[in-house]
Amino acid sequence: MIGPQARHLLGVGDLTAEDVERILDTARALARSLDREVKKLPTLRGRLVLNLFYESSTRTLASFELAAKRLSADTMTLRSTGSSVDKGESLRDTALTLAEYEPDVIVVRHPHIGAPHLVARATHAHVVNAGDGKHQHPTQALLDLFTIQSALGRLEGVSVAIVGDVLHSRVARSLVEALLLVSAEPVLVGPPTLVPRGIEALGCRVSHRIEDISDADVVYALRMQSERMQAGAAFVPSLREYTALYGITPERRRPGQVVMHPGPMNRGIEIDPRVADSGASLVTTQVRSGLVVRMAVLYDLLTSPAARPAALALEVA
Ligand code: CP
Repeated sequence: MIGPQARHLLGVGDLTAEDVERILDTARALARSLDREVKKLPTLRGRLVLNLFYESSTRTLASFELAAKRLSADTMTLRSTGSSVDKGESLRDTALTLAEYEPDVIVVRHPHIGAPHLVARATHAHVVNAGDGKHQHPTQALLDLFTIQSALGRLEGVSVAIVGDVLHSRVARSLVEALLLVSAEPVLVGPPTLVPRGIEALGCRVSHRIEDISDADVVYALRMQSERMQAGAAFVPSLREYTALYGITPERRRPGQVVMHPGPMNRGIEIDPRVADSGASLVTTQVRSGLVVRMAVLYDLLTSPAARPAALALEVA
């Protein structure tokens, strides 16, 4: 939970429904500040946000950096490539080294599950998980909730079909938990090889029939994560066959349905470009949501509960 006692966001499991509602409300208020000519707020002046990225990223890194800047925090970004990680420095030693610069928040992306937890144990900073292996990506889930709420006007009872490579997806895992937290209805759709057995235990439904997406309000296409598929392991006969069976095409989209994708998209594989670029696509909206939701997360971590409403009302008025 984001609160005075445990001030990390390591997974959706750290959040209560109240936390989610508060963060989405804050994001909505902050979004108004971005309509102004001068977009910067003084809220986090003097604070330091450190982005520690051991895996490639466009959206998450760019939006955390801009979110911190829009709130007047200082930022530092360290990518593993080109740093002393190349010389064999461990994650713990890297975290301990950077902790000497006294960051208030460390945003961590890493290919290994639990890396952000290690950083949280090794430093006094608030830690945000920006994606650890195929485990969790909680700010992606929050920005997806924000996007759905903005597009449909509600979250409760919304049916979301999450389609594709569930097995390797931290986005799917985080999103299912987040949707259940707000009483939405996730259903996982994909070939049996790409949907982990027993995942229904999370509380979602599972289908291997693409036709079942027609019941959903939202179709959420997942990226085929070839970089996480072990060499030699065949999860689908071929990408061409996957696309034929599970690709999101205009023919498979029911009128009225909106379509989402976390990015980066494999156009022509999990999503047809005619869908990705259509009026039904919320993909670019998701990118915009990422900025205000990450501003809200930083704000939530670094502002005391008592000061939050007054500070926000003052600054985004
Ligand atoms: N959705 C997402 O995490 O995108 P990036 O890998 O570009 O950050």
